[in-house]
Amino acid sequence: MRQFLMDTHASAGGGPNFAPMAIEILLPYLPEAAGQARRFVRDALVDWGLEQLIDVGVLVASELVTNAAKTGCQQQMTVGVRWISPVTLRIAVRDGSCILPVLIRASRSAECHRGLALVDRLTDGRWGATVEVAGKVVHADLTIVR
Ligand SMILES: Nc1ncnc2c1ncn2[C@@H]1O[C@H](COP(=O)(O)OP(=O)(O)O)[C@@H](O)[C@H]1O
Ligand SMILES: [Mg+2]
Repeated sequence: MRQFLMDTHASAGGGPNFAPMAIEILLPYLPEAAGQARRFVRDALVDWGLEQLIDVGVLVASELVTNAAKTGCQQQMTVGVRWISPVTLRIAVRDGSCILPVLIRASRSAECHRGLALVDRLTDGRWGATVEVAGKVVHADLTIVR
């Protein structure tokens, strides 16, 4: 279910044109949610004229959603994309687990535990987690360079 939370047509007429915008989708706790999230983020960024963020945005969303899917929670996670300031795009994933993510400094040879390190690098450390009543939100902020 794709849900528009604010005006999503501020870029109509061509070119990025900031207005607070947000959109979210509910996804299952399944590995295939990552692919659905990638398409969702890509479509939002195209709609908003932020094509320059597609590669990074899709990667970040994919990592956060993959982590949420691994919690094994029931029902659905929420994936949100918010254009929160002229220079900041926030990707946020809400899941039903109160366990917080941990940034692991994997060794060079490690084959896993690299996801959050990647998010950390791509966001210059601008990511975090907020505990909620029944779960948490993990967010990552991307800088919009024009
Ligand atoms: N949404 C989440 N809920 C609970 N724990 C998480 C979540 N995201 C990440 N973690 C924890 O942080 C660790 C590091 O995540 P990550 O760097 O993506 O590596 P990986 O997913 O390969 O384990 C995970 O092993 C997990 O323990
Ligand atoms: Mg991971």
